[in-house]
Amino acid sequence: MLQDLSLPSHRELLFQDLLNLGATSAMILTTPETPTTQNIRNESYQRLVSCLGEKYCQVGLVAFLRFWAEVLVSVEYSCLWQRISERLCNGQSPHKIRSEFYYFHMIHDSRNSDIGQESILGGLTHSQELAIHLKRLISSEDALVYCLKLQEKAYQLKCQFYDQFISARAS
Ligand SMILES: [Fe+2]
Repeated sequence: MLQDLSLPSHRELLFQDLLNLGATSAMILTTPETPTTQNIRNESYQRLVSCLGEKYCQVGLVAFLRFWAEVLVSVEYSCLWQRISERLCNGQSPHKIRSEFYYFHMIHDSRNSDIGQESILGGLTHSQELAIHLKRLISSEDALVYCLKLQEKAYQLKCQFYDQFISARAS
């Protein structure tokens, strides 16, 4: 999620990966968002904004963003990679095109260690960078409980997103 502005945007890199996976530009640009996806996107944003008025606002924002936009993203892409890697690679295969979006997020966003166990040797992932702030900001049991609730909510939002496709396929 963290990004140098001189690099191509996430949107551009994702677009490239989707093209290389076989989607057309028209498919990517004109496929409408499902109502469920729209609701989940709105609810995710509301959940983020709702932290602002809370007692543990700062730690809540870091906890939600770390879990929702880094830890779970890496988990999601690890699952997707089983299929994506049939067509794209990590840059090591001469026969496949390199993934510019999914692969790097799968690696760079990964949780990799327990909170407080981060080692800067070999570099930190985005989850680990935020975990360092989380450890400093979780100053009480109440703050911890608040963070755990936000993480549970983030997990539910992700599940709702993927469940829509399971139920659509079953019907
Ligand atoms: Fe990230």
